[in-house]
Amino acid sequence: MGANHSISFFDNHFQKQVSEQSFALNHFEEAALPHLTGSVLDLGCGLGNLAIEAARRGASVVAVDASPTAVAHIQYVAEQEKLVLQGIQVDLSNYRIDGQYDTIVAIGLLMFFEQERALALLDEIQQHLRPGGRAVINVLIEGTTFMGMFQPGHYYLFGRDELAQRFAGWRVLEHAFQAYPAPESTEKVFATIIAEKI
Ligand SMILES: C[S@@+](CC[C@H](N)C(=O)[O-])C[C@H]1O[C@@H](n2cnc3c(N)ncnc32)[C@H](O)[C@@H]1O
Repeated sequence: MGANHSISFFDNHFQKQVSEQSFALNHFEEAALPHLTGSVLDLGCGLGNLAIEAARRGASVVAVDASPTAVAHIQYVAEQEKLVLQGIQVDLSNYRIDGQYDTIVAIGLLMFFEQERALALLDEIQQHLRPGGRAVINVLIEGTTFMGMFQPGHYYLFGRDELAQRFAGWRVLEHAFQAYPAPESTEKVFATIIAEKI
C-alpha cells in the first residue's frame, strides 16, 4: 500500500471494523447527513458510512479514499443494494476533482496533507461546487496534540479561524469547534464548517 502511515493507520482500523461489522455514523457524519443531496462527492470517505446512507436516501454519490479495505466495502454495499454509489480507491495527494457537484464532503481529511496540498484541495472543492451547492469540511486545528495518525512532517493543523476565513463570501450554515480526549493525555481539536456557495 506504500509508505503513507496515515493510510495504513486507517486501513488497519477499517479491517477491524469490517470484521466486527461496525458501521455507525460518527458525530460529524450525523450532522452532515441532512446536507448531502443531489450529486455528492465524499473525499476521504473512510468506510463510506455517510456516503452509503446518503445514497440510500436518493443522492448519487462518488466516494473516494485511499484505503483498499474501505473502498472494497463501499463497492460491495453499492452492488448488493443497487445504490447510485461509486467507490474509488485513490491517493488524494495526486487527484483532480472532475465535474461539478451539489455537495462536496471532506470530513477528517485535509489535515493529512502538507499545507500547500491541503489548501489546494480545499480550493478545488470550492471551485467544483455549483452555485447553491454545499461544502462540508471538518479538520483538525492548532491545539491538537495527538499525532499518532500522522505521517511525520506530512500534515497540516489548520488555524482556529482559518475555515471561516477561507469561506468568506459563502453562506455559512454551521461553524463549530469540538475537542476530544485522545490516548496518553493528548487531545484532538476539530473545526467544522458547512457553507453554501452563493
Ligand atoms: C479520520 S478518517 C475520516 C473518514 C471519514 N470521512 C469519517 O468521517 O469517518 C481519514 C480518512 O482519510 C483517508 N486518507 C488519509 N490520507 C489519504 C490520502 N492521501 N488519500 C486518500 N485518502 C486518505 C483515510 O484512509 C481515512 O479514511
